[in-house]
Amino acid sequence: MDTTTGRSLAADSTSGRPLFTEETSADVVTSSLGPGTDPRLRHVLTSLVRHVHDFVKETQLADQEWEAGIEFLTATGQKCDHLRQEFILLSDVLGVSMLVETINHRAVREATEQTVLGPFHVVSSPDRPLGADINLTGTGTPCLVTGSVRDIEGYPVPGATVDVWQADAEGFYDVQKPHEIPERNLRGLFRSDDNGEFWFRTIVPRYYPIPDDGPVGELLAATERHPNRPAHIHFIVEAPGFETVTTHIFHADDPYLDSDVVFGVKESLIRDFSRVDDEDRAAALAIPNPFHEVRFDCVLTPAAEKTRRTEGA
Ligand code: BEZ
Ligand code: FE
Repeated sequence: MDTTTGRSLAADSTSGRPLFTEETSADVVTSSLGPGTDPRLRHVLTSLVRHVHDFVKETQLADQEWEAGIEFLTATGQKCDHLRQEFILLSDVLGVSMLVETINHRAVREATEQTVLGPFHVVSSPDRPLGADINLTGTGTPCLVTGSVRDIEGYPVPGATVDVWQADAEGFYDVQKPHEIPERNLRGLFRSDDNGEFWFRTIVPRYYPIPDDGPVGELLAATERHPNRPAHIHFIVEAPGFETVTTHIFHADDPYLDSDVVFGVKESLIRDFSRVDDEDRAAALAIPNPFHEVRFDCVLTPAAEKTRRTEGA
């Protein structure tokens, strides 16, 4: 039976299987799934096959276009290694990563919104004391980041881990240039204090291009898209009993805020990095004067809230 039209499908007389035609193609494929197929796998695969078959029909995909697609995906796989994940990059520039992120982390009341993790997080950022300078090279515009971790009622969350990473003044993460940039440059793992506050010294971030020397870069060029992400600082904020937040803060003055190549910008995450010229304050903070300052107050959702949402309650 064709599940969209309700009509019976013409069947092969020996196997009893429906015959493969333009009209029946997706049903023929999905009806080949065995009865023991995991129900979620059946659901996802059935939907995928329907959409891909509809896409092929809608575009009337030519043989050469099918071949070009296969070559593109092959090249994408060949570009991957333990440091480079070209498929994730492809998902990012097509907006799929951000859509999955948005569906799975719908904003709860005034909780901090999430955005893409990106490929440059390292599993173990170095533990650093509050106030530490995570800039190991001395280059870039000095910046003080202050912030807090609170719950949605406004109560401080002490002892939360605040994992931070960002690109340098040239737009590179340490892992992109392991022979030039000191390991763990511009990374740190902090813990919020008894009042839920945290602070550290760093540099003002700048925009940078995602890796564009592979098939994804070619796709961007072919479609007249720039490869840049607006300036940002990454955070993962985690505390027992709360949903972990993976997010960024974005520089309000960045020229690419409206055209992030991975669609990661959310209005609520844009911050002013204000310039401070105050010798006494700079001296007290051990930061060169003048410097920039930005604040990030992170609001966590209770883990139970997420469970309730997931269960649809
Ligand atoms: C990043 O912000 O680090 C990033 C996110 C997605 C793709 C490439 C880089
Ligand atoms: Fe980044």
